Amino acid sequence: MKRLQNKTALITGAASGIGLATAQLFQAEGARVISTDRDTLDVTSEQQWRSTLQSIPDLDILVANAGISHAAPVAEESLDHWRRVFAVNLEGVFLGLKHALPHFRSRQRPGSIVIVGSASGRKASAGAAAYCASKAAVAMLAKVAALEGKSSNIRVNVVSPAGVVTPMWKAMPFFQELEQKHGSEEAAWREIGAVSDQPLEGFAQPLEIARVIAFLASDEASYVTGADVLVDAGFTC
Ligand code: NAI
Repeated sequence: MKRLQNKTALITGAASGIGLATAQLFQAEGARVISTDRDTLDVTSEQQWRSTLQSIPDLDILVANAGISHAAPVAEESLDHWRRVFAVNLEGVFLGLKHALPHFRSRQRPGSIVIVGSASGRKASAGAAAYCASKAAVAMLAKVAALEGKSSNIRVNVVSPAGVVTPMWKAMPFFQELEQKHGSEEAAWREIGAVSDQPLEGFAQPLEIARVIAFLASDEASYVTGADVLVDAGFTC
């Protein structure tokens, strides 16, 4: 039997990168997957969370993956960008938890919620204050929700990757500058992946993160809740 056979999973931010790889892996593992992105479930909209969840009475798994980044030193960060990063990375997950927890409880179904955090929630990076702070906050939010899942068989876990080869990086001006400097996207990935004290080299592929998400989502992780699993090649060692 496949690991996610007979499971129904909702994935946010599933149009690209880690979310897309997770949707594909979940399907291969036998799940019925509802893939959403900002055009079908904008995670910052409480109304859209309500209506989406209402349309999935048999939900077993929520993967709160949607996230954005914005690079700027603290002194140069605009309040608008700061709020936008928090709106998606923290409030978007808060709204998902707020509506998914009672959704699972009211149907007396076990539930598994996996939140995509970041190693940046554990290790600071200059120029990424909003992103780092939002990811640190979401990891703590997940632990609170895990405690509140007590007695209702709802598990809440976080997967925290370090660098992953996804469009999130390609949109950043410094990546485009590297691409121009080296003349190819591959060379730009090589340069940003060369983190000197990281035991395993390079950036992860989205599937390498999706595999850990699938484990936590599945019944194989039945004794795991409140965990923040680093998938970071030792970046935070
Ligand atoms: P991505 O940019 O490929 O995918 C993010 C997806 O989220 C996009 O499809 C985007 O449309 C969607 N999204 C953005 N705002 C949304 C909203 N308001 N409502 C619904 N969907 C929205 O990026 P990636 O890398 O796949 O990111 C996925 C998650 O992984 C994010 O939470 C990110 O912070 C996290 N992450 C990524 C790392 C990386 O190096 N790529 C490292 C650590 C964590």
